[in-house]
Amino acid sequence: VQTDSIRIVEVSARDGLQIEPTIVPTQTKVDMIGQLAAAGLRTIEATSFVSPKWVPQLADAAQVLAQLEPVAQSGVDLPVLVPNQRGLDRALAAGARSIAVFASATESFAQRNWNSDLAGVLAMASPVITEAKRRGLPVRGYLSMCWGDPWEGPTDPARVAELAAQLIRLGCDEVSLGDTIGVATAGVVVRLVRAVVEAGVEVDRIALHFHDTYGQAVSNVQAGLGEQVRTFDASAGGLGGCPYAQSATGNLATEDLVWFCDGLGLRTGVDLDRLVRLSEQLAGVLGRPSPSAVVRALAGA
Ligand code: HMG
Ligand code: MG
Repeated sequence: VQTDSIRIVEVSARDGLQIEPTIVPTQTKVDMIGQLAAAGLRTIEATSFVSPKWVPQLADAAQVLAQLEPVAQSGVDLPVLVPNQRGLDRALAAGARSIAVFASATESFAQRNWNSDLAGVLAMASPVITEAKRRGLPVRGYLSMCWGDPWEGPTDPARVAELAAQLIRLGCDEVSLGDTIGVATAGVVVRLVRAVVEAGVEVDRIALHFHDTYGQAVSNVQAGLGEQVRTFDASAGGLGGCPYAQSATGNLATEDLVWFCDGLGLRTGVDLDRLVRLSEQLAGVLGRPSPSAVVRALAGA
């Protein structure tokens, strides 16, 4: 369906902060998410309820979410990442109204990110999806390493398509195809989206999650748009990345996405100047400049 707008899933507060060496204070996270909402973002991944031993950066998930109640009340969707039953229990106790589960397209990443094989990862996620759906919560499913991983090389699109269809069959409302190490280029984006659609996943249930390791993220968005995908994950200032990717650049910067969409006349609802000011502030907190060329250009303007 051709529309004149896209939906952005803002992931800086989770995907961005989870690998920062600096542990950002709870209040700074809450303020950041409030400002993301004020800049017009309507879906903001707030935090994750994973093991704090694995991700100490987000150990304050419950406190963050509790303080975001006014933002949730204003109608902003604040999904939180949940790996297992323990995470779901914690998320629900903290008032989560929307969750995201995550799985891997490769065995190597399953071992490193979950300390489990892929069957074990799906066995962890499956009851979480069922229980969340039983409670009427929206559930997003992430699939990582969809175009390649550092240990196994390129990922077979047929395998990704089957896993994406499986996440939908398990009850996920949407599947986000993650280019975790940023190796995708436009041609293989087209190929994979088509394979996932051919496996039975409706295109409006597909989201694309690009990392900008090789500077291809915006061109990959264009390829996705051509296949009618309308949901894209992005991170303010390009925060985040992957510890296994060989680059200083992180997620597709929300500013890059908005700048690009503005030129196409695709509405995002985002106030770009406001977002750039927030990313500059965050760069100050984290002690390094944003890798986004759009942020640097507009910050200097
Ligand atoms: P494990 O160490 O193999 O197993 O972790 P465990 O079950 O023995 O858990 C270890 C300790 O954590 C135990 O505590 C558990 O109780 C506790 P202890 O007994 O030692 O005191 N624990 C928890 N505590 C709080 N909340 C929980 C929880 N679960 C266990 N939910 C586990 C297995 C899956 C938990 C771990 O490997 C984990 O948390 N992994 C998540 C790692 C992560 O967050 N990665 C980043 C997110 S994925 C991503 O960024 C990709 C994405 O952006 C898309 C893309 O780019 O591709 C989404
Ligand atoms: Mg990611």
